Amino acid sequence: MKMIKPYYKSPDRAFTLLHGDSFKLLCEFDFKFSCIFADPPYFLSNGGISVQSGKIVSVDKGEWDKGKSQQEMMEFNIEWLGLCRDKLKDNGTIWISGTYHNIFSVATCLTELGYKILNVVTWAKTNPPPNISCRYFTYSTEFIIWARKSEKKPHFFNYDLMKQINGDKQMTDVWQLSAIARWEKSCGKHPTQKPLALLARIIMASTKPGEWVLDPFCGSSTTGIAANLLDRRYLGIDQEQKYLEISKNRQEELENQQTYQMYRSKIKDIQVMDSLYPSMVKEDSDITYGDLPF
Ligand SMILES: C[S@@+](CC[C@H](N)C(=O)[O-])C[C@H]1O[C@@H](n2cnc3c(N)ncnc32)[C@H](O)[C@@H]1O
Repeated sequence: MKMIKPYYKSPDRAFTLLHGDSFKLLCEFDFKFSCIFADPPYFLSNGGISVQSGKIVSVDKGEWDKGKSQQEMMEFNIEWLGLCRDKLKDNGTIWISGTYHNIFSVATCLTELGYKILNVVTWAKTNPPPNISCRYFTYSTEFIIWARKSEKKPHFFNYDLMKQINGDKQMTDVWQLSAIARWEKSCGKHPTQKPLALLARIIMASTKPGEWVLDPFCGSSTTGIAANLLDRRYLGIDQEQKYLEISKNRQEELENQQTYQMYRSKIKDIQVMDSLYPSMVKEDSDITYGDLPF
């Protein structure tokens, strides 16, 4: 095993960043996570345009998102999903976000690799950007596949909490949540940053306080910020240093108790949880979840 040097580690060791290619780094250490969230390239950057705050903008995100053939996309997805499966605990689960461009390829690869698909959540954006061509319906959804490592081994689902958050009715697989808000970009912009409310729900649904969450395409580390706001531990990997800087700055903001509380108060699911179980975010001190080997 190679010696890995983290790009950043928070003082409480609950937020670690690695700089580099996940395809390589995931082969260089041994550790099992309870949950993985991955927001991989959707391979959408092909010169298209969209509208943001009333202005026409390019949809090109960067080199990492340049279009691939179906075959290349399958090869990409099968490789990283295989590496991630090795990093999951036997009862662990993985969430992968995407649009119609990549999500069918992801689903096929998951099944081929022996994962069991649990749900395909539809994130219905309450404030989608308009469709400027006026030749299609407005795109307003993204999909998030939730799968467990294996067919047989049961997974953890915080069913009761999800039901309570949903006004005491079973939560469905359609989540009405808004797109990213301005307050979430206080440390700089990532072109495909996910909203904290989405990641908070994912983490609350599938992990317990103290557990480890991995994000192999972490960008600005929305996953890690949501994890830390909920007292979970986090490892994020990205190949672009500029995004790791945003990640680090976002985590450092949380060291200010007022900012930490302010972010928690802006996420509705966390507010509901706090009103129901005021001490729920505290880790169970009888259980140890171990530490990363670097
Ligand atoms: C869709 S974005 C993730 C955004 C993130 N969910 C957020 O909220 O900020 C995908 C990220 O994956 C990174 N990436 C792409 N290929 C990678 C690879 N092979 N290894 C590590 N990072 C990679 C890109 O730099 C980009 O920041």
